[in-house]
Amino acid sequence: MSDFGRQIINWYEENKRVLPWRSTQEPYRIWLSEIILQQTRVAQGLSYYERFVKEFPEVKDLANASEQEVLKLWQGLGYYSRARNLHFAAKQVIDDFGGVFPSDYKSIKSLKGVGDYTAAAIASFAFHLPHPVVDGNVYRLLSRYFNDATPIDTTQGKKQFQSYADELMIPEEIASFNQAMMEMGAMVCTPKNPNCEQCPLQTGCIALQEGTQLELPVKSKKIKVQDRFLHYIVVDEQAYYLQQRDDKGIWRNMFEFPLIETKKAEETIEELAEEKGFEIKGRVMYETKHVLSHQKLHVKFWKASAKEDVLNNYIKVDHLEDHAIPRVIDRFLEEHLEKA
Ligand code: ADE
Repeated sequence: MSDFGRQIINWYEENKRVLPWRSTQEPYRIWLSEIILQQTRVAQGLSYYERFVKEFPEVKDLANASEQEVLKLWQGLGYYSRARNLHFAAKQVIDDFGGVFPSDYKSIKSLKGVGDYTAAAIASFAFHLPHPVVDGNVYRLLSRYFNDATPIDTTQGKKQFQSYADELMIPEEIASFNQAMMEMGAMVCTPKNPNCEQCPLQTGCIALQEGTQLELPVKSKKIKVQDRFLHYIVVDEQAYYLQQRDDKGIWRNMFEFPLIETKKAEETIEELAEEKGFEIKGRVMYETKHVLSHQKLHVKFWKASAKEDVLNNYIKVDHLEDHAIPRVIDRFLEEHLEKA
């Protein structure tokens, strides 16, 4: 066994943040926290975790909810397939495992939305099974510690870093070891300004010796980002007129204003709007950009009016509280509309 594990566990015990999912052994709650924390910072995830636990104290409560209820509670976190998978997996626990959260790695991984990382987190935190977690934090930490430039997004890289973690872990203290790895990645071995002066791994870290911290980890591919131009038509009346998105692409099944999508950034959409029966009033009300993992959305909001027979094609809503809407639209409403 290496000093590595001892050093990070000691550091963790002295420096850890107190977080609600760290003081429970309940697999349902641990799973919930891990899904929320994928692609979400702890500071943002905390309040969502609290609300989910309050609204759905047990896995059966989540399974019995409607998809819209789950999406509504998820609203603002983004990457909504996580919420859909969460809901689906809760039903799997009821249907496939008799309502008892599975306790072996393979069964845990059979839940929708649960990959290697999340399965290892649940298996180790809830059941003390010796599976080291390997996520973005851990790739960064290990690539620097070993000064290893193998690209982390390749089969070879995944194997390589998994085997480092397998080698270094302390099976008898797997829960603390895994929490410590993630906490180190989040608090010390950070992407841009790593706190090497405070790092308990200073003597063994080869990147620190070589000065290569900021060049690691290495990725082989650059993600191609697609630009999309979305124009939302906000009907100037007392109610909201909405449509529901279909079950493909971004924001599946969520609600939005009537939409015109264009191939490039348009200065005006008057003619396109007219074809749909809307009359644009004035200049653009609000514009913003919204970056997703593979898409950059350029979103504009336009005030418009329309005849009743056009509006009849849309869903008339007095209050938005019961509808799951994308965060960009929510932000627009907060800043620009004050309807009763
Ligand atoms: N990010 C993902 N899992 C986490 C955990 N258990 N604690 C803190 N941050 C995390």
